[in-house]
Amino acid sequence: MTETLASPDAGTDSPRMLYLNRRDIAAVGGADPELYVTALRAALVAHAAGRTVQPLKPYLRANGKQGHIADRIIAMPAYVGDPGISGLKWIGSKHDNPTARGLERASAVIVLNDPETNYPIALLEGSLISAWRTAAVTCLAAEYFARPGFTDLALIGCGVIGSTQLRALTRWFPNITTAHLFDTDPDAAHALADRIGVERPGIEVTVTGSAEDAVRAGEVVLPCTLADAPYIPFSWLSPGTFLANVSIMDVHKDVFLNADKVVVDDWEQSNREKKIINQLVLDGTFSREQLHAELGEVLAGTRPGREDDEEIILLNPMGMAVEDIACAAEVHRRAREKEIGTWLDLY
Ligand SMILES: NC(=O)c1ccc[n+]([C@@H]2O[C@H](COP(=O)([O-])OP(=O)(O)OC[C@H]3O[C@@H](n4cnc5c(N)ncnc54)[C@H](O)[C@@H]3O)[C@@H](O)[C@H]2O)c1
Repeated sequence: MTETLASPDAGTDSPRMLYLNRRDIAAVGGADPELYVTALRAALVAHAAGRTVQPLKPYLRANGKQGHIADRIIAMPAYVGDPGISGLKWIGSKHDNPTARGLERASAVIVLNDPETNYPIALLEGSLISAWRTAAVTCLAAEYFARPGFTDLALIGCGVIGSTQLRALTRWFPNITTAHLFDTDPDAAHALADRIGVERPGIEVTVTGSAEDAVRAGEVVLPCTLADAPYIPFSWLSPGTFLANVSIMDVHKDVFLNADKVVVDDWEQSNREKKIINQLVLDGTFSREQLHAELGEVLAGTRPGREDDEEIILLNPMGMAVEDIACAAEVHRRAREKEIGTWLDLY
C-alpha cells in the first residue's frame, strides 16, 4: 500500500502520503453519519471480538494537575483489521480556545500507516473525524438502547461535539421531533437552536433554563460539556431514558449504581484516569461483573440491547482510537477512489 512512485509535483523518487484537509474529508462524506456508522459497526464488533490492537492512550498535560481538565494532548494509536491498517490520532485541547482565541477547543491530526511497511501513507485533519465518529457511536448505540420511536433529545453543552451529536442524530433518526438544549453559556445554546432551525426546520428546538429541565424532558440525554464534576443525579432520569455520557464527568455515581444497564466502549479504557467508573471501582462499589456489556458485544448480538420500555440505560463512551482509525481509513479509501487530496513527499 505504501506509495513509492515519484511525486507528480517534485519528480523525485520518494515515499509519499496523501494529505486530506477538512474540505477533502467533507467531500467524501466525512460530514455525514453514514460513513462513520458503517465503519464503526464493523470496527466495534471487531474490537469486542479481540481483533483489534489498542494500547492505552497516554494523556500529555503540560501543566500537570494544575491545568484545566480539558487542557491536554492525547495520543491514540490502534490497529484495525480487515483490511488491516494502523494509525494514530494526536488530539490537542485547550478549554479556552473558543473564548480566548476564537478557535475550536480541539484540534487533531490522524496518521495512517501501511501495516506492511509501517510507513505513513496518509495525514488527515482529525477533529472533524473525531467529532463525527463520536456522534456516530451515539447513533449506533441509540439503535440498540433508545426506546424505539423516541422523539425527544436533551443536549447539555452546545459546542462542537454537542452540535455534531444533534446534527447526526436528527439525520439518523427521523422520529426525533424535539430537542431540548442547555448550555451554561446561553448564547451557545441559542446559536445552535438557530442553526438547527435552519438546517432541520421540522424539529422543534427549545432552550431550557437549567440542565435539569433539559434532562427531565429527554428520552435520549447527551451531556457534551467541559464539566469536571458530576451534576446529573439518577432522580432526573425518566423511565426509558438512554443517556450517552459523551463528556464522561457529568453523571453522578448513583446513575452508574442504579441504571438498569451500564455499557462502555472498552472496560480497560473506562476504568482509569480517576473517571467516575474508576472512582467507583476504587470505592469497591462497581466492577466488570456489574457492567452489562461493551458496546461491540451488543452490536455483535452476543449481549442484549434494550429489553423493555422502562429500562434506564447508561452508555459511557470514553472514545477509542479504534474508532478514529477505522473511520479515517474509510475516509482515506473513499478519497483514493475519488482522487481527492494532496500528495506529500516524505523525502
Ligand atoms: N467520549 C468521546 O468520545 C468524546 C469525543 C470528543 C469529545 N468529547 C468531550 O466532549 C466535550 C465537549 O467538547 P467540545 O469540543 O464540544 O467543547 P466546546 O468547548 O466546543 O463546547 C463545550 C460547551 O459546553 C458548555 N459547557 C461547559 N461546561 C458546562 C456545564 N457544566 N453545563 C452546561 N454546559 C457547559 C460550554 O459553554 C460550551 O458551549 C469535552 O468534554 C470532550 O472531552 C468526548
